[in-house]
Parts: sequence; structure tokens; C-alpha cells
Amino acid sequence: MRTQVGIIGAGPAGLLLSHLLHLRGISSVVLEKRSRDYVERRVRAGVLEQGTVDTLIEAGVGDRLLREGLPHHGIELRYGGEGHRIAFEKLVPGRAITVYGQQEVVKDLIAARLEAGGDVRFEVEDVAVHSLEDRPYLTFGGERLDCDVIAGCDGFHGVSRPSIPPGVLKTFERDYPFAWLGILAEVAPSSEELIYTRTERGFALHSMRSPTISRFYLQVPPDATVEEWPDERIWTELKARLESVPGFTLTTGEIIEKGVTPMRGFVAEPMQYGRLYLAGDAAHIVPPTGAKGLNLAVADVRVLTEALATFFRDGSTGPLDGYSAACLKRVWRAQHFSWWMTTLLHTFDSDDDYGRRLQLSYLDYVTSSEAAATTLAENYVGLPW
Ligand code: FAD
Ligand code: DHB
Repeated sequence: MRTQVGIIGAGPAGLLLSHLLHLRGISSVVLEKRSRDYVERRVRAGVLEQGTVDTLIEAGVGDRLLREGLPHHGIELRYGGEGHRIAFEKLVPGRAITVYGQQEVVKDLIAARLEAGGDVRFEVEDVAVHSLEDRPYLTFGGERLDCDVIAGCDGFHGVSRPSIPPGVLKTFERDYPFAWLGILAEVAPSSEELIYTRTERGFALHSMRSPTISRFYLQVPPDATVEEWPDERIWTELKARLESVPGFTLTTGEIIEKGVTPMRGFVAEPMQYGRLYLAGDAAHIVPPTGAKGLNLAVADVRVLTEALATFFRDGSTGPLDGYSAACLKRVWRAQHFSWWMTTLLHTFDSDDDYGRRLQLSYLDYVTSSEAAATTLAENYVGLPW
């Protein structure tokens, strides 16, 4: 079997890459180890930058996103008993974010690939990468797939990054001393906009998916398990953190999904080796406080698509050779923003009273200075693509 681009992983990066390549007449095969049902149900991110929305619309997979996505023109920062709105329409006119679940993006992309006759294989076993320097190929479940190029879109725990010979990659990593417990609940959102809350009990985030489904996150210890968090405990803690301003009541409902996500920043440089190109979480991850993970994956795929289009059109490898350098600027900006939002809003056991005062002072600055609030707003909605 042979294809132009062998893609490992049917997350947002792999599926979007396959679709964008198809639109340019370039063939690909996507190999995914999980079932279609599993990847379509996996609840993760929800905030799409304008650049991500534009990319999906231009690619013809934005119909449902336009119908069901929720445009947001501001977020609230809540701390010290008060809420402060970061008003995108004033600070970054004409730019906004759209709340639309990652699993819905994945469903839309799978539907588009299958409708166009795309080759997406689920429940594929033992994917392995071979001969990266020349004539690369993939093996899986006893089959062989020869490719011109391989795209490693298989997330942080995939096989593509570890298949690069030792000593080639330089990795940068930061682990945070807490995790996020994320839930989906069948209840109307208690707020029209997202609320990022800092309290002495820890961070909490109120987000949403639709007028009837809410999404929440709680800062929890790094080794927390879902079993330690029965529904009642979750609602008690969410109320304790979010009902920290007068007059705000959190409406509770049935919890339909729970998961714990570790908090980590990670970058592998360069994002390529021989004929292998890494995109999305395979190359870098961010703590989710800045809502950047999915958006970075989409940005990588856009750059890679253009580079591959040039390569298959006239054989020129210039843009492909520059792929990693072209992506890493945005990657590091997102790393910094995600680190900054995380340190601004979470409580650290190691913090003393002095550290807490510094954090509150910075929050006061961000919510009172237009320049500081603009820094937050322009990074949150996404720097121009
Ligand atoms: P992924 O979505 O991880 O897709 C990789 C795919 O590769 C998966 O389908 C996987 O099954 C497949 N795969 C892995 N190994 C193999 C293999 N050996 N062979 C074949 N296939 C393989 N970001 C935010 O902005 N906000 C959030 O709230 C948020 N929550 C998150 C919660 C969790 C639990 C995780 C893990 C991530 C979260 N993120 C969040 C980050 C965001 O979801 C990711 O940045 C985004 O999914 C990246 O897309 P991707 O396609 O690069 O990787
Ligand atoms: C969501 C996730 C995030 O990481 C974030 O910063 C904001 C919203 C969400 O899942 O809705």
C-alpha cells in the first residue's frame, strides 16, 4: 500500500491535516489506535480562536460550528470577592472566540473525510515508523504503508516523537503541582461568559457547551482521582469557589462526564526529523488555562499543509525544511501565555503570604490597566494567523 502522507492519529491535528491535503489533491491515510466512537466522545477543549474558526470554515467543515458554536466577546476574572470583565470588543475590536467542543470538531472532520472517500482507519494496532531518512514507511497490524512523508499527529503519548533517534530533539518541560478535574453537566450555564476564578481554595473555571450543557474545571492535587470526587463533593467545591461574589448562584445538575488532566508544559525542538513532521500535542503541550492546545494544533497543521503543497507541486523542500522554525514562534508565545495565566490564577502550596500578595497585585493590575488587560485579551483571542 502507498500514499503521499501517512498520518498517525485521528485527533484534531491528524484529521484536519488529512482534510486540508485532500482539498489540495494530496492523498493521505490516517491510522488511529482508538475506535471512532472513542475519539468522538473524548471530551477535551472548547475554546476556538478566530484563526481556528476561519480555518474550519474555509475548509468547508464549519457549517455546524457556525450554527451551534457560541461566540464570546469577553471573559470574567473573579477573585477577592469581585468579578472583572475582560472586554474583547473594547480591547481587541473585531476579535472574539467561539465555544464549540473539540469532540464536535472531531465529529465534523471525520464526517467530512468519510464523505469524501478518505481513508481513516480506526482501532489500528502497533503503528511503527520506519526509515525516516529516506523512503519512509509505516507498519501496523501486519500491513505496510509506504509514504513520501509521515505526519506524527498522535498526541503527547504517541509513537512518532519517540521514534526520532536519541540526541536529535531538545525537550523543554515544566510540571505543575496540581491537575484539573473537568466535568460536563446537564445544566444551563449559570453565566453567559466564561468565569476564571482564583480563590484561596484553588482555581475554578465555569465554561459551557450549549444552552443546556455546562463544563467546569477545578484545580485538584496532582495525584487526584475521579473516584475521590463524587458528584456532591464536586458541586460543593465548585460552589465554594465560584459563589465568591455577592448575588451569584451556581445551578447544579446531573454530571455526565468526569476526567482528571495533568498540568504540564512541554516542547520538543525541532518538530521534524528526516521525512517525519510532528504536529499538535505530539510536539508540544500547554497547561489548559490559556485554552491554547487545540488552537496550536490547528496552527501547526496550516503551516504543514502549505509546506506539503509546495513540496508535492514542485519538489521544493524549502518550506518543509522551515516547518519547525515557522511553528515554534507561536508555540513559545502560547507556552508563555499558558504559564502566565496558570500562575496568575492557581494557588501553589509553596506560596507564602508574600507570593499571594504578588499574585493579587498582578490580578489588580490586569483588571485595572487597559494595557495589561489588552495583553491578556489579544493572547486569549489569539495573535493574528
Ligand atoms: P490528540 O487530540 O491527543 O490526538 C492524537 C490522536 O492520536 C488520538 O486520537 C490518539 O488516540 C491517537 N494515537 C496516540 N497514539 C497512537 C498510536 N500509537 N497509533 C495510532 N494512533 C495513536 N486544551 C484546551 O485548550 N483546553 C482543555 O480544556 C483541554 N483539555 C484537555 C484534556 C485532556 C485529557 C487532554 C489529554 C488534553 C486537553 N487539552 C485541552 C489539549 C487539547 O485537547 C489538545 O491540545 C488537542 O487534543 C491536540 O490535538 P492533537 O490532534 O494534536 O492530539
Ligand atoms: C475550556 C477549556 C479551557 O482549557 C479553557 O481555558 C476554557 C474553556 C472548555 O473546555 O470549555
